[in-house]
Amino acid sequence: MKITILNGSPRKENTAAMVDAFAEGAKEAGHEVDILHVGRMKIAGCLGCEYCHGKGEGKCIQKDDMEKVIPAYIESDMLVYASPVYYFDVTAQLSAAMQRVYCIGKPQKAKKAALLLSSGSPNTGTGAIETYKNMLGYMGIEDFGVCALAGEENKSEEKLAAIRDWAKSL
Ligand SMILES: Cc1cc2nc3c(=O)[nH]c(=O)nc-3n(C[C@H](O)[C@H](O)[C@H](O)COP(=O)(O)O)c2cc1C
Repeated sequence: MKITILNGSPRKENTAAMVDAFAEGAKEAGHEVDILHVGRMKIAGCLGCEYCHGKGEGKCIQKDDMEKVIPAYIESDMLVYASPVYYFDVTAQLSAAMQRVYCIGKPQKAKKAALLLSSGSPNTGTGAIETYKNMLGYMGIEDFGVCALAGEENKSEEKLAAIRDWAKSL
């Protein structure tokens, strides 16, 4: 399976540790894994101009780093969204990358998805989880699961090993 992880964190810290653990487990299980660091990309919000659904024929009028993400939405069998919780949601960069799939309608091959969240306090990612689940329902993609680490759990070897094992079960 071709798996793409969209990492919405601009830092190489807590979310990155979860992303690496997931990637290691999935690779051990024989999958091909790509990580796109959308948190450090320049991705603007959708303009709602509908160019993509008319003259653009599936192409967005905005020329930015989203051009690096669209191929993942076309080719990946599984998408993993990863983000720190910023004010009860994913980062603005990841949110923009999730919404800009609009130009192609929906991920074209993805049958499965997962969500990795890192936060300072527990249970603050409920908004992010709800949006993720709604998007999956809308797109007809199966939820492989959500892993949310908070506070001291971040970078804990025990939790990262659990993520590795979880991804190995793919
Ligand atoms: C702008 C901003 C907003 C944040 N909002 C929340 C929040 O709503 N709830 C929470 O528990 N932590 C919040 N945090 C803390 C981060 O989610 C937490 O430190 C996370 O582990 C950072 O992940 P990273 O190392 O990948 O950047 C916020 C941090 C920042 C910078």
